[in-house]
Amino acid sequence: MEVRDNSLFLGGIRAKSLVEEFGSPLYVYEEEMLRKRARELMGAITYPRREIKYACKANTNVEIMKVFREEGMSIDAVSPGELHAAFRAGFNPDQILFTTNNATHEEIEYGMSKGVMINVDSLSQLRFVGERHPGITLCVRINPNVGAGHHDHVITGGPESKFGIDYTKVDRIKETAREFKLTITGIHQHIGSGILQPERFIEAMDVLLDTARHFEGLTFIDFGGGIGVPYRDEEKRIDVQVLGKKISDEFQKFCRAYGRDLKLTVEPGRYLVAESGSLLATVTAVKEGQRHRFVGVNSGFNHLIRPAMYGSYHPIVNASCVDGERIPQTIAGNLCESGDTFTRDEEGIVDRDLPPFSEGDIVAILNAGAYGFTMASYYNSRPRPAEVLVHDGKARLIRKKESIEEIVG
Ligand code: LLP
Repeated sequence: MEVRDNSLFLGGIRAKSLVEEFGSPLYVYEEEMLRKRARELMGAITYPRREIKYACKANTNVEIMKVFREEGMSIDAVSPGELHAAFRAGFNPDQILFTTNNATHEEIEYGMSKGVMINVDSLSQLRFVGERHPGITLCVRINPNVGAGHHDHVITGGPESKFGIDYTKVDRIKETAREFKLTITGIHQHIGSGILQPERFIEAMDVLLDTARHFEGLTFIDFGGGIGVPYRDEEKRIDVQVLGKKISDEFQKFCRAYGRDLKLTVEPGRYLVAESGSLLATVTAVKEGQRHRFVGVNSGFNHLIRPAMYGSYHPIVNASCVDGERIPQTIAGNLCESGDTFTRDEEGIVDRDLPPFSEGDIVAILNAGAYGFTMASYYNSRPRPAEVLVHDGKARLIRKKESIEEIVG
């Protein structure tokens, strides 16, 4: 994004023109940023046998997934729907790890029938897979008892987490694998999301590497995703070069002791897509309440739930007056709940100092590329927005806005 004539431009196109052409609300993604983050991560891991699996739950738009395929990534998928998206984006089964949680037997069978590797999440799932498919090769998700993340809801390692097999249960895993002649070719962990403390990754990595020593025959170790991006000015970006080098060095050291050069796998989602995406909405009403100046827009937590769900902060700009005298304002959605404000924390409304909005202005909610559209809903029977990919002054519609008939029937 850039600012010209005090107006917001995305991929070289004025935000206002994008809304004129494609309507609003509208998700806009900058291809340049997608590729920049992808290349940055690829370059940061200096260990040569590395694989980056894009965790597509962050954004399953097939055109975005294609960009990551072109950048040499593979995929972490969690459901039949995500597998389908990965195939449509041109990934082969051997590029996909199927990491389910509390999946049905049918879902596991579906994954097996598509030829993707299963990442087993529980001892009972391991037994089920063993009974049905003795002798297969798979990956096992470990809970390393280390967790981190921007909010309790997204901490996926540690004693409160429902994910993976506790790291103390190695003997049980090996016993079941022996019983059904299963080959455990990889072990996996994912400790949480939106992590801005690099030391937490190292802490968890140490536990997983320690666990890995007990498994002979590994070919890869997957350290999960979770790298955060700064949403607030004061948040510090993780230096991925430094972290990547540290992880690489530790891994190399482990491989020497293990006696074989394994593949180092990571599976980021947010880091790759968050900053490329903006949600553009149009101001439909402005009102002065007792405490707040409400700027009402034609979107809501049906399109971006992160503020309402986690109290998450997203940068917001007035697309036609990025800089100017600022007044406190509440950007509010159009849904029938008072929690439907984009400027809030977990407790409630937090006004944002922004140049004053009037009806017809465009509100741009930034860093909305990850867990924006994928968490959108049909609440209040409103369709989900269109999505557009922009690059070098050109815009391409990558998902049409749904119609009311499509969603209501
Ligand atoms: N791998 C696994 C197994 C995961 O469950 C996740 C995310 C990732 C990788 C990617 O994590 P990332 O690099 O994106 O942090 N809706 C929340 C985030 C939930 C993340 C869940 N798992 C949010 O909007 O903050």
